[in-house]
Amino acid sequence: MRTPIIAGNWKAFKTIPEALALVGELADSVRGVSGVEMAVCPPFTALAAVAERLRGTSIKVGAQNVYWEKQGAYTGEITPPMLQGLVDYVIIGHSERRKLFGETDETVNKKVHAVLAHNLLPIIAVGENLDENEAGKTGAVVTRQIRGGFQGLSADQARTCVVAYEPVWAIGTGETATPAVAQQACAYIRGVLREISPVYADAIRIQYGGSVNAENAAELLSQPDIDGALVGGASLKADQFAAICAAAG
Ligand code: 13P
Repeated sequence: MRTPIIAGNWKAFKTIPEALALVGELADSVRGVSGVEMAVCPPFTALAAVAERLRGTSIKVGAQNVYWEKQGAYTGEITPPMLQGLVDYVIIGHSERRKLFGETDETVNKKVHAVLAHNLLPIIAVGENLDENEAGKTGAVVTRQIRGGFQGLSADQARTCVVAYEPVWAIGTGETATPAVAQQACAYIRGVLREISPVYADAIRIQYGGSVNAENAAELLSQPDIDGALVGGASLKADQFAAICAAAG
């Protein structure tokens, strides 16, 4: 069985004091929640403070991005060794990074390899935009993104990855994919994974992301191929995020 994983992607929100206040509240709110893996992904500036505050709790920490080199003259970048000991997970290829910062399937793949080489776990984000969705291209887009992201991974590496299916039209819009539509896409993605890694496709966790909230989480999470959620806006409120975690437990 796959343990569900709920991760909060805070994006570019929360100063260090605000981040500490949020995780303090969250640690209290999720006490007693079990059977689910929980993680928060604050901005880089708050990672150390949040990791320190959450040490010894059941909430893990993730980064929202990473560069693929170990170190060097790469002004402004954060590398995998810098994240070791601080985080468990790294979100890679979020649609905002693909759209606003020029990330491609190739750069996503480099980051996935770099993260795995440093014993961190990638959350590989995929998903079609509105135009692609309306043109019936969802399957082709996620196939390309999954094949690109998983390129060159061993089966043992592939099984540790988490995939986040986030249809771009559902992100931050309040327009959640229906549970049936989200399930269909996640089952399709598992089929693509099965072609890559027949042995481990059933072990890989696939999250849904896009306007997940405390009200719609339970039904989304009850779908057979949805193994968790990547939560944006609702992860900035402790009570909302805790309710989503509880719905997965
Ligand atoms: P929202 O939950 O705000 O729609 O954001 C989803 C997301 O992009 C998580 O990575």
